[in-house]
Amino acid sequence: MAKRQRYLFVCNNRRADGHPKGSCAASGAEAVHTALKEELGKRGMLKLGVRPCTASCLDVCHLGPTVAVEPDHYFYGRVTVADVPEIVAALERGERVERLVIPDDQFDESR
Ligand code: FES
Repeated sequence: MAKRQRYLFVCNNRRADGHPKGSCAASGAEAVHTALKEELGKRGMLKLGVRPCTASCLDVCHLGPTVAVEPDHYFYGRVTVADVPEIVAALERGERVERLVIPDDQFDESR
């Protein structure tokens, strides 16, 4: 397989029910990963353009479900299945969905 232009790392970490940190999987991340694959496939972007991968915890659990976009190196937070068409359309244009991008000062939950 060819090297893709971008890789989307979708946190699919799941913690036990009731865990204080929660988890992206418990917030719907698995469905987000599936929807990304479907939408990228519909647009013919899977083979060369963008590879959606599942990932373990990206350590921004308080803003999950989270997606890291590489090599651009920005993160989306609180992603839902409804956001996926907009995310993929933006990737196709070489842009990002600013309303979902996690600002640098929000990575640390204690701030
Ligand atoms: S559980 Fe998804 S970022 Fe930690």
